Amino acid sequence: LKVGTLISGGGTNLQAIIDACNQGRIDAEIVFTGSDVGGVKGLARAKKAGIDTFVVDYARIIADSRKIRDIDSLLPKNFDLDEILGKQRLVDVEKNREKALFFIKSRVIAERRLLDHIESYDMDLLVLAGFMRVLTPYFIDRINTKDKGCRIMNIHPALLPAFPGTDGYGDTFRYGCKIGGCTVHFVDYGEDTGPIIGQKAFEIADGDTLKDVKKKGLKKEWELYPACIQKFAQSR
Ligand code: GRF
Repeated sequence: LKVGTLISGGGTNLQAIIDACNQGRIDAEIVFTGSDVGGVKGLARAKKAGIDTFVVDYARIIADSRKIRDIDSLLPKNFDLDEILGKQRLVDVEKNREKALFFIKSRVIAERRLLDHIESYDMDLLVLAGFMRVLTPYFIDRINTKDKGCRIMNIHPALLPAFPGTDGYGDTFRYGCKIGGCTVHFVDYGEDTGPIIGQKAFEIADGDTLKDVKKKGLKKEWELYPACIQKFAQSR
């Protein structure tokens, strides 16, 4: 199985997948690691493992998009904004149309660059390993083509559908849950809403701090992600 990976940070999940590949625990090989942020530790982990890396600097692209008068000139050809807006299911951006339009256009400009890299590889599965950017339907439809089907996976730091969003462990902890967990799911047009592939839970003891919860959770993530990739490799 040829796996592409996208990260934004430390890349401990990426490391767990690299180790699982190297130790023959999963029938997969990582063909690239892309990041939306330069200089992060995950990129160094990939390079050390001999994996191709690239960076698409989202923060820079979004800042540049704000400055330019005619943002539409940067959009890909045959880009259908109404189609993308119709499919996108995002809670926050739906409230303000101007904001939503800018959000989608600037992301699509960044995604076109991601795709330029990704499409140069032969890839069966795209694994988001701590990639902290929303993917628009423009991107998703270009990866999940009719013949390939669902093939973008994400790991989320909570037992979905509880606590979607960027701070799953924090939200679990602050709610006072006695059980936390992580979820691997296919990515669809919503935020953390796609079909669930696997989950792992852990107990939160009375004296546990948020740091303890994150530590317990990450340990579970490192087991869960390789297992779910192997499930996919075996077409289960
Ligand atoms: C993980 O907790 C993952 O669930 C979340 O981001 C974190 C990434 O950690 N989406 P790492 O970069 O793999 O160490």
